[in-house]
Amino acid sequence: MPATGRHPGWPARLGPIRVPAGRLELRKPKLTDAAAWSRVRLADRRHLESWEPTAPGTWEDRNGTLSWPAQWSALRGLARRGMSLPFVILVDGRLAGQVTVGNVVRGSLCSAWVGYWVSSRLTSGGVATAAVALVVDHCFAAAGLHRLEATVRPENVPSLRVLEKLGFRKEGVFQRYLDVDGAWRDHLCFALTAEEIPNGLVSRLVATGRAHID
Ligand code: ACO
Repeated sequence: MPATGRHPGWPARLGPIRVPAGRLELRKPKLTDAAAWSRVRLADRRHLESWEPTAPGTWEDRNGTLSWPAQWSALRGLARRGMSLPFVILVDGRLAGQVTVGNVVRGSLCSAWVGYWVSSRLTSGGVATAAVALVVDHCFAAAGLHRLEATVRPENVPSLRVLEKLGFRKEGVFQRYLDVDGAWRDHLCFALTAEEIPNGLVSRLVATGRAHID
């Protein structure tokens, strides 16, 4: 599908799709997500902190309700400039995580990175796999991108499994790539280009019984 509009593919609602954890949808973040977002993030510090970029301030400061307006505004600003496609994941109507497409570069690159997290209350229920599948399909269709990259710490077994299930191709190691959890960490780089999935990822998940369209 040809990319159209000022910032193709944004804003967008993706899904619904059914996975073992429940009925999954993605939409743009809202200012009113503050309480739900903060509740999950504060409860999930141990689950999330080892995998997220190091940032100033305490976990509580960065993830309290009062920090959301600034984060939401930053996400919205990047999306409005066409540099990012930020989504919140809803499972059975409740905020369950985020998928962010960042560093969108157009022209002869048409590339971006994708990152994600899911509430510990729902892990291993197929949420991240289906959410990223919806986002990848959207990026390669309506958003007009050609390549998506995901970088993961080699120790992050669940995230590696998500990328494996989706068929991301391993490209190599980025040494001391990102400051995560207080140190420069090696990351494995995975990528997909649009030609690799002519029928999309969601259709593959449905065909293999990992997801269902209601
Ligand atoms: N060892 C081996 N496999 C595991 C383990 C483990 N300890 N824990 C989970 N898995 C498997 C699950 O069984 C499942 O595989 P299966 O479907 O073959 O059974 C797979 O890992 C997880 O798949 P999903 O259920 O689709 O993913 P989930 O919704 O649980 O989310 C995620 C995975 C996003 C990695 C979640 O654990 C999370 O938020 N972790 C913390 C933040 C994080 O690591 N984010 C990713 C950073 S890297 C990036 O963004 C590119």
